[in-house]
Amino acid sequence: MAEEKSFKYVIVGGGVAAGYAAREFSKQGLKPGELAIISREPVPPYERPALSKGYINLENKASLPGFYVCAGSGGEKQFPQWYKDNGIELLLDTEIVKADLAAKTLISGTGQVFKYQTLIAATGSSVTRLSDFGVEGADAKNIFYLRELLDADELVTAMNVKANGKAVVVGGGYIGLELSSALKVNNMEVTMVYPEPWCMPRLFTAGIASFYEGFYANKGINIVKGTDGRTLEADIVIVGVGARPIISLFKGQVDEEKGGLKTDAFFRTSVPDVYAVGDIATFPMKLYNEMRRVEHVDHARKSAEQAVKAIKAAEEGNSIPEYDYLPYFYSRAFTLSWQFYGDNVGETVLFGDNDPTSAKPKFGSFWIKDGKLIGAFLEGGSPDENKAIAKAAREQPVVESVEVLAKEGLSFVSNI
Ligand code: FDA
Ligand code: NAD
Repeated sequence: MAEEKSFKYVIVGGGVAAGYAAREFSKQGLKPGELAIISREPVPPYERPALSKGYINLENKASLPGFYVCAGSGGEKQFPQWYKDNGIELLLDTEIVKADLAAKTLISGTGQVFKYQTLIAATGSSVTRLSDFGVEGADAKNIFYLRELLDADELVTAMNVKANGKAVVVGGGYIGLELSSALKVNNMEVTMVYPEPWCMPRLFTAGIASFYEGFYANKGINIVKGTDGRTLEADIVIVGVGARPIISLFKGQVDEEKGGLKTDAFFRTSVPDVYAVGDIATFPMKLYNEMRRVEHVDHARKSAEQAVKAIKAAEEGNSIPEYDYLPYFYSRAFTLSWQFYGDNVGETVLFGDNDPTSAKPKFGSFWIKDGKLIGAFLEGGSPDENKAIAKAAREQPVVESVEVLAKEGLSFVSNI
């Protein structure tokens, strides 16, 4: 019989949210042996964004422990010893295959049984595969996806073996744009393919995308848009066609909404003592009075902290303020760096210098709805300018004239 282990708190999943939840538990006060993190990955929680940036830059490669959480937000790096020092059990290489929430029990692939009093589900997302669309040849060699450290290791090996070779990147989203840049920096010949009229359509306007497409083309990246049936040669193929929340463990046991586990403003699910955080949570976005799911690192960190604060407060009979999240997304590629805050709905205005050949391009876009500025995007902003667009997206100033806003650009938000 496999041994049974019991913990006061268990976090299933060992990614970004798990790492930040562990830090919050230790801040709030934790007794040795109270908390376990169960992860199928072989390493402690790390800042996943590094995988599509420094970790795959062959010339200047980032490596672990350099990006263990909480390095990404300027915090202390949580080495394996940190978990030991805090009395947190880190169960790595351990996949949970069954969750019985009524019995407060988790079972691993090797039959280990874990009992908990409070569970935090933090299983993140898995990549969408070409086989999910029934693509012919989807099982060919040298097709890569990127979600976890081991995927990145396989990609690094392939880039070394196929040095200076041809890479085709399928998908024009976050992975597509970040990976194409990394492959180019690693001296590969890169072609990007995506079906939409412009890259990153879920966030970018045509005006924003034309800058990045022009910049990438000037770097020698070939962009193929739409579907024209042409054949592309490739030594390696990288696929970034979206991600899906991993919620199968909880199916039929927890209420779902918009593809995720439905939570309240404290990340409590419909099952008592079960919380869901990070990519898998569909939570009330107070600012827009709507249930949303967010697949970005800032929310993974903050939702984890909110859930732990709520758990601890409830134990002491206290309450905490509701989660009041301002969406924040960012990306970096080549020498470029953008940030976005708020909501990308409504009318848009483009401002600044979005010429892809400029030595120091700086431009942005505002989204205006019901006469108020509600979203702001900025490429090449300074820390103060990025703070200013965040503040504007939070405060939603009235926009008297869209034409004037377009002319004023950043100066409009720097006065708020
Ligand atoms: P996360 O995916 O981090 O962790 C989930 C963990 O659960 C994984 O360790 C997984 O193995 C484990 N797990 C799943 N099922 C399990 C089971 N049954 N048993 C045990 N363990 C299990 N965002 C952003 O804002 N800026 C950025 O630059 C980037 N860059 C970026 C690059 C790449 C390559 C990826 C894949 C993603 C990003 N993101 C990002 C998105 C961001 O990383 C993501 O939103 C967070 O990692 C989500 O944190 P979670 O903790 O929810 O999941
Ligand atoms: P995404 O949703 O950003 O982009 C998916 C893209 O797939 C679409 O834009 C489209 O171009 C493409 N696509 C869809 N079907 C296709 C098809 N049949 N053929 C070709 N292209 C097709 O997803 P992603 O880029 O795969 O990212 C995966 C996850 O990782 C997401 O959760 C994302 O938020 C996260 N991520 C975030 C960042 C960041 O925030 N900077 C960076 C990397 C990854």
